[in-house]
Amino acid sequence: MMDSKKGSAMRRLAPVVAVVAAAGAGTLAFAMNNVSAAEVHRPTPAVAIEGLQVAQAAGNATAGATAFIRCRVCHTVERGEPNRVGPNLFGVVGRKAATVAGFNYSDPMKNSNITWDDATLNRYIQDAAGVVPGNKMQLAKGAINAQGAADIIAFLKTKM
Ligand code: HEC
Repeated sequence: MMDSKKGSAMRRLAPVVAVVAAAGAGTLAFAMNNVSAAEVHRPTPAVAIEGLQVAQAAGNATAGATAFIRCRVCHTVERGEPNRVGPNLFGVVGRKAATVAGFNYSDPMKNSNITWDDATLNRYIQDAAGVVPGNKMQLAKGAINAQGAADIIAFLKTKM
């Protein structure tokens, strides 16, 4: 008696299970399609730093706003805000290095002849001492990784 009831319940459930399984497979296939699409549309060019290949990933300004906490101890970023330990960074993307009025730059920075674009910023943020030897920005090499640097640059581009 009990066994035949269980059996018929199982028979009624079987099609439901099959549908759920099919839906599951469909979702999985969809997710896998998305992954390959993301890979195709996200090229990762590389910049050489002292012989190493460092991925220059696509930046995300929202993530960069959060990562900028690491910079905010020393830098303001809004227009007209005062310099702190470091110069105000409003409009830094595309600007020549060591040109913020009233900031006392180091000689190596004044003589660096750098223009801050994606590539120079990416390298400087990851390895300030390596890019401008003797400069006075105290940020350890590797404290910000390639993705963090790209995100911060995307954020800085919203401040111009
Ligand atoms: C401990 C303080 C400190 C921290 C943290 C710091 N900086 Fe700096 N930054 C400086 C100082 C000081 C200078 C000026 C360097 C010089 O004159 O040699 C500078 C210079 C710069 C410059 C060059 C600006 C110009 O006008 O040429 C950029 C770009 C920069 N910092 C970006 C960043 C970013 C992005 C971060 C966060 C990832 C960061 N800094 C974190 C202190 C800091």
